[in-house]
Amino acid sequence: MSDTLPERTLSGAAYSIAELLEGNDVVLMLDQLRLPNEERYIPLRTCQQMADAIRSMVVRGAPALGIAAAYGMVLAARTGMPLDQAAALLKATRPTAVHVASVVDQMGSIAAGLSGEQLVRRLAAWARQLHQQDVANNRRLGKFGAERLGSVRVVLTHCNAGALATGGYGSALGVIRAAREAGGEVRVLADETRPYLQGARLTAWELAKDGIPVEVITDNSAGWFFSRGEIDAVVVGADRIAANGDVANKIGTYSVACLARMHEVPFFVAAACDTIDMACASGEHVPIEQRAAREVTHIADCRMVPDGVQARYAGFDVTPARLVTAIFTERGVVEPVGPETIRRVVAAGPPPVAR
Ligand code: MRU
Repeated sequence: MSDTLPERTLSGAAYSIAELLEGNDVVLMLDQLRLPNEERYIPLRTCQQMADAIRSMVVRGAPALGIAAAYGMVLAARTGMPLDQAAALLKATRPTAVHVASVVDQMGSIAAGLSGEQLVRRLAAWARQLHQQDVANNRRLGKFGAERLGSVRVVLTHCNAGALATGGYGSALGVIRAAREAGGEVRVLADETRPYLQGARLTAWELAKDGIPVEVITDNSAGWFFSRGEIDAVVVGADRIAANGDVANKIGTYSVACLARMHEVPFFVAAACDTIDMACASGEHVPIEQRAAREVTHIADCRMVPDGVQARYAGFDVTPARLVTAIFTERGVVEPVGPETIRRVVAAGPPPVAR
């Protein structure tokens, strides 16, 4: 079994967040910690290795985490790890994105009564289908989003909700891609997104690769660009959307939403319906990941904060529904955003299965 990326990735792009290789015993994962300087794939052979990759941000972005967790369950089945142990291990990695827990629970149900090679094959087929369906969902929601954006010229985005955060194509960046494919001239301002720099490293990398104009700005300069009228719309992704329309996303998203409201700029969220957690009544109930203070106090190995001074790092924040202009999903646009409109889009059911 070779450790090279298959010629045809499931996303259809030349790169991929992760590919489960033919024998269902190796996942090749793009190491996002090394981007943009190095495009390197690492082989993962156990569920423990997958959990470590998720926790350490080798892979990140809510839908990508779900897909990685699904592949982790396949590796567990392949290596004979009990699936309840694998599920608990994966669920403990990153709590804010709804995808990890929901995928792992669904796979637990699928596994019931199966064992051996049949179990591995069934889970692997499901995981690959999840991956492909996510790409199809992003393409659909991207079209809806691009139509709603109309002739908008400059979009601000925060973090990375692109091909690198999903099965491929991207949610927020899927909207940008769809707008460009439709002939629009939209360009992107990318918040750098301290401290992991998902905007500076990842959003800029994948947009530049596609020839889409992008400029990186520091997180603290967004207000300046809003005040100069240089931002026409905001489009971000989501880790979890509550039943009332509150949106949990990368820390800093709420500040951007407040600025957008202050400057009367539309604030859009792009996310497939599997990001909507109907069991979560409001943003108050979303578990917010607390990450190590070292990620704030240090840049690389260099301490930037005086010795003995503490730091706090909540990985995500919640933007209340009242600040969200619309949510682009693969089932249509939720606008205005509230419990009724959310319920309606979820009830619409999935679009035809991707082939
Ligand atoms: O900590 P990360 O990099 O996993 O956070 C990612 C984000 O916040 C994304 O905006 C979100 O997951 C949406 S991805 C389509």
